[in-house]
Amino acid sequence: MEKFPKKRLQELIKSIKYHNNLYYNDDNPEISDAEYDSLINEYKNIKKFFPSETKEFNILDKIGGQPSELFSKFNHPTRMLSLDNAMSEQDLLNFQKKISNFLNKNADDFEFSSEPKIDGLSVNLIYKNGILVTAATRGDGQIGENITDNVITIKDIPRLLKTKSPPASVEIRGEIFITKNDFIKLNTENKFANPRNAAAGSLRQLDSKVTAKRPLKFIAHGFGSFAEEKSSYYDQLIEFKSWGIPISPFLKKAKNVANLIKIYNEINKKRSEIQYDIDGLVYKVNNLSYQNRLGIVGKSPRWAIAHKFASETAQTEIKKIDIQIGRTGSVTPVARLKSINIGGVLVSNATLHNFEEIEKKDIREGDTVIVERAGDVIPHILEVVSIHKKNRPKLFKPPNSCPICNSPIVIEPDEVVVRCSGTYVCDAQKIGRLKHFVSRSALDIEGLGDKQINLLYNKGLIKDYADIFDLEAKRDVIVNIDGWGTLSFNNLINAIDQKKKIELSKFIYSLGIRFVGQINAKLIASAFSNIKSFRSFFEGKSNILSTLENTDGLGPKVIQSFIEYSSIKSNKEQILKLTQKVELFIKKIDTVKSKITGKKIIFTGTLSSMSRAEAKTKAEKLGAKVVSSISKSTDILVTGENSGSKLKKAKELGVSVMNEKEWSNLAS
Ligand code: IVH
Repeated sequence: MEKFPKKRLQELIKSIKYHNNLYYNDDNPEISDAEYDSLINEYKNIKKFFPSETKEFNILDKIGGQPSELFSKFNHPTRMLSLDNAMSEQDLLNFQKKISNFLNKNADDFEFSSEPKIDGLSVNLIYKNGILVTAATRGDGQIGENITDNVITIKDIPRLLKTKSPPASVEIRGEIFITKNDFIKLNTENKFANPRNAAAGSLRQLDSKVTAKRPLKFIAHGFGSFAEEKSSYYDQLIEFKSWGIPISPFLKKAKNVANLIKIYNEINKKRSEIQYDIDGLVYKVNNLSYQNRLGIVGKSPRWAIAHKFASETAQTEIKKIDIQIGRTGSVTPVARLKSINIGGVLVSNATLHNFEEIEKKDIREGDTVIVERAGDVIPHILEVVSIHKKNRPKLFKPPNSCPICNSPIVIEPDEVVVRCSGTYVCDAQKIGRLKHFVSRSALDIEGLGDKQINLLYNKGLIKDYADIFDLEAKRDVIVNIDGWGTLSFNNLINAIDQKKKIELSKFIYSLGIRFVGQINAKLIASAFSNIKSFRSFFEGKSNILSTLENTDGLGPKVIQSFIEYSSIKSNKEQILKLTQKVELFIKKIDTVKSKITGKKIIFTGTLSSMSRAEAKTKAEKLGAKVVSSISKSTDILVTGENSGSKLKKAKELGVSVMNEKEWSNLAS
């Protein structure tokens, strides 16, 4: 048993109190939120491991300590969403194609709204019978913090809606921000890095009198649950405006993507004249019933997209060109740069994408280049501005063998990508897969980032996924590694414990199988009726190929990759070992009880009023299971145009058949 670290606990309490005071009372924090959180976590950990010795210490209860414990929690009636990004015209065309395919309409059947994407904080305002009753931060989208007392001090936000017939209840969403000029005036002591931080600091005040003095502004950009909504987003915002809610002066309607791009270019040109920071435009499908049908994928609506402004660039020199082996074996050339600051971020590496790109742009070591950084993506090289004068080195070519595992490097037909063939022997690929397994989009294990994976792998402490869940047994070794200690180790074990219940599709995605991204992982998971059947497949007791082949949306390349993966002995062993250590489950979608609940349904032929994807989503919401191959156990066959063999078979098997109209009536 560890010794109770009393001295450390006392230091922590002193330090937390000190930083609380700076943060909440002086609004002048000295440390980042992450550093603050780590103090709190360490404190909580000591309390957790030494409950009896720490009974008398309760600073979090007394002084609220943690920002998230300071304000009460608020469960948003309708989830607050994020946005997917578009960086190019092509991304926008893809967005348009996705929505038109989903609703089975022509690409130019859609009207959009457009407005700037304000760099502030989103807030949910709840008005009951025209009275502002609650204001809450976005939080994780479902649960935010109740900041009503502070929000009612903002002059832009009406406490009463200016209407004689207010709705019984409406959630109005928008952005709280500080203008650039107000920021300069407010920030005389350089407390805040930018207007966004200043707005955040001002909103999270214990004392609402402090918030009241801050020049906070508000612009609405959406709404949650609202029974009396208009038929379009644009009209709804105009109605909000008439109630005294500020909306964007740049809110516009657009007929098509070409129109959106025109608006984008206009706004981009006058970006510096706009009084507040914006980082792009947000486009939304204007028709609200289309929005409803399009629904949500993950955390973002299918019906909206943020079109980000282009990136920032800077000039620097390439010190060296290297290669990097990814988790799928892809060999990516990277430029090691003389470090340079691009828009506030220090950049020392840039991806060269592939070897064709190096040749096309004629990029060589020693050259001076323009580097571009956009949003969260890895910086890349736009062009060479001046070449290395003396003895310009030869063009960088792919090696014949992998520098890590020595396996042959192969260039696959139809691909620009050069690949290391040592899939299961290459340390770089194994490390890449482990990093992917614990990354944000996969298991999301806090405290187990790239750095820790490199270290634990290189020391032989984690060799495969299952080892991650056995780290407790290696406690003695790990706590003695430089930079680790009992507390950081305990934090890690806690974080791992929290991620032991894994949804099947997330688990499949986390395995990092080639071509199996989040969407394909969902489709593959849907082929297994339960966790038992998933296990039995990996035990070699059942076959899934025909179900996968009959799963709408799964292409042959993906299926082949998954089947190949699952046919390798070491993979099978690894999955079975892992399933002993974690708890897999299948997420049930929220369904409503209907006439087709529990029924097996098949769609065949071309539907005219909606896409297959929409029909499937709808049927699943109504509690039906959508299957793709017809058998005696099928309950309903819905026929679109040109229904072929399935219709014939349904008749033979006595499965009940309905046309699209009958299905629509049933489903509406
Ligand atoms: S729409 C429908 N419109 O951007 C989905 N968001 O990256 C959600 N934001 O959390 C919001 N300006 O805080 C929307 N005109 C705008 C916006 C906007 C800024 C923020 C908002 C959201 C984030 C998503």
